[in-house]
Formats: sequence, structure tokens, C-alpha cells
Amino acid sequence: MLVLGFESSCDETGVALVEVPAAGAPQLRAQALHSQIRMHQAYGGVVPELASRDHIRRVLPLTREVLSQAQVALSDIDVIAYTQGPGLAGALLVGAGVAVAMAAALDKPTVGVHHLEGHLLSPFLSVDPPEFPFVALLVSGGHTQLMRVDDVGQYQMLGETIDDAAGEAFDKSAKLLGLPYPGGPHLAQLAEQGDPTAFDLPRPMLKSGKPDFSFAGLKTAVLTQVKRLGEVPTEQQKADLAASTQAAIVELLLRKSLLALKETGLKRLVVAGGVGANRHLREQLNAACAKRQIRVHYPELSLCTDNGAMIAMAAAMRLQRGMASLRPGAGFEVRPR
Ligand code: KG4
Ligand code: ZN
Repeated sequence: MLVLGFESSCDETGVALVEVPAAGAPQLRAQALHSQIRMHQAYGGVVPELASRDHIRRVLPLTREVLSQAQVALSDIDVIAYTQGPGLAGALLVGAGVAVAMAAALDKPTVGVHHLEGHLLSPFLSVDPPEFPFVALLVSGGHTQLMRVDDVGQYQMLGETIDDAAGEAFDKSAKLLGLPYPGGPHLAQLAEQGDPTAFDLPRPMLKSGKPDFSFAGLKTAVLTQVKRLGEVPTEQQKADLAASTQAAIVELLLRKSLLALKETGLKRLVVAGGVGANRHLREQLNAACAKRQIRVHYPELSLCTDNGAMIAMAAAMRLQRGMASLRPGAGFEVRPR
């Protein structure tokens, strides 16, 4: 069975083809991705209307690329998956509209996928996939959650952020430092030259005793430091503040992940979502987990941020378990929230 998947929830248009064998793990056959980051950079953030228009421009050429890479015809596709939400409504409608239109033309069913389930299951696309059960740390631009995962669809929330997401904390702090959008990778890069102990930044809720998060106070503290540095901070001061900010975010993610692992008694951690690409986070998690005989799994670096492969994969894993609600190729809804 061949599953074609579309991702268009925010600023990446992703298309991918996953093959579901009669037995064994689904395999990625081909994928193509277009990032709109450069287009939105001039505005300092994603402009929803521009995002939707660009998804429309990109989605069919990317689909052709995927089919040609995999050397299959559109008529060979059995199921069409798309991100149903959460995300920008107009952007979601592009992927959903194309998926449903194609499915109607081919007389094939569609599967709507939850974007976060896509991230969560993305490590199953790696060469070293995890086994169930595990604790998942989901860290994206919009979400920060710790979950107990017993199987596909068996998710128990252990804790989440009460305000900003980890990616937002990176992005907002980066903006305060005058870095381009999306700030996370830029801040991480600047932090390489900085001293993480130079600024004493707060770790909100570190000692709450629960695996939940808060990042809003950290952002306010960064703002205070930026003001204190004045109009023209030196490059070293900026690097030091970037490194101190990253250290605070990473320490929160690390401590709360360890708490969730301790609470559940599980010995496997899966890290997914854009912030999972952060090198410092990976180093800290790897070191702390190695000490405790805990295995950590990540998606491939290129699959940490949004992509079509994770959507096709999530649909494939649901289909294998008879859990996908297949819809006839007509009618659809998106769920921005
Ligand atoms: O999962 P994702 O691509 O999109 C959402 O579903 O939100 O995550 C995007 C987030 C952004 O906040 C971005 O700044 C952050 O992931 N990010 C990083 C890094 N790469 C991406 N944050 C810190 N370090 C990175 N290397
Ligand atoms: Zn995402």
C-alpha cells in the first residue's frame, strides 16, 4: 500500500510517499520539501496569507517530484494523508484541499493527521527507530509537552507548558537579540561563541515537582538584560546572552524530561519537533540519559522541523493498526487549534 502525505500547517510545504508493507515497518520511498523561511524573513515572522499562497504554488510541483523520485504514477497511490491541524487555517486548507481533490479524482480515501502525532512518530523514520513504550518530549514552535506513549494513539499527557512553547522562547529571545526569523537556529549558532554562565537567567517552575513548563518569565528576563546592555551591545555580550538563554531553556527541558522518566519508570525517551534539532539539548540529554541507562531517540536532523514524511508515516502507522479513519475522497475539515 502506498500513502502520499501532505504537510502545509505553517511555513513548509512537504510531500512524501511512504510504503506500507504487509508486514514490518512502513518505509519512506520519497519526499520533497520547500521552506518558506526566506520569504517570511523580511517580515520577522510567518505572514499567514503569504504562506497559503506559497503552499498553492509549491504543492503540485513537489508532488510531481516525489512521484518521479519514487517512479510511481498518481494512480498507484492507495491513500492520501494530510495535516488536519493544528496550524494556520488558510495554510492547512491548501494541503487538505489538494489531498481531498486528488483522492476524489482517483476514488481513493483520505486520512487527516494530527500535526503533533506526525512529529511524535517521526523518529520511526530513522535508521534506529524506538520501541514502545516511551516518554516523548515534543518541542516545537507551538507546543512543549511530555507524554507517555504506549503505542500509536495511546498517549497520556504528563505535562505541558502553561504559557510559551520552547521554540517560542528561542524565537522571541532571538528577536530581542536582533536575530532573523526563525530565531531558534540563529540563537543556537550565536550561543556557540558565548558563555552560558555570563547571565543569571531564571528557570521558571524548575522546582515545581511536576513535569510542566513555563517560559514567559525567561523571555521577560532576556528583555530586561537586552535593555540593560543598551543600544549597541558588543558581539560577545550578545553571544553570552544567547548562550545563557539556551542554557536556561535546555536545563528546563532536561530536568523535566528526567522527572517524567522517573515518574513513569520508563527507560526510553523520544525527542521530536523543531527544537529537537538543538545540538546543546541533544548533548545534555544524551549525557544525562547515558548515566541512567536511558536510551534517547531523535528523528534525523532534517526531519525535526516540519515535513511531509512524518505525516505520511503517521498515517501509515495508523493504517497498519486499523486505526485510521478513512474518509471517502470528498468533504473535509481542518482544525487550526
Ligand atoms: O516543529 P517545527 O518545525 O514547527 C512547529 O510545528 O512549530 O518547530 C519550529 C521551531 C521554531 O521555534 C524554531 O526556532 C525551532 O523549532 N528550532 C530550533 C532549532 N531548529 C529549529 N530551536 C533551537 N535550536 C535549533 N537548532
Ligand atoms: Zn511542527
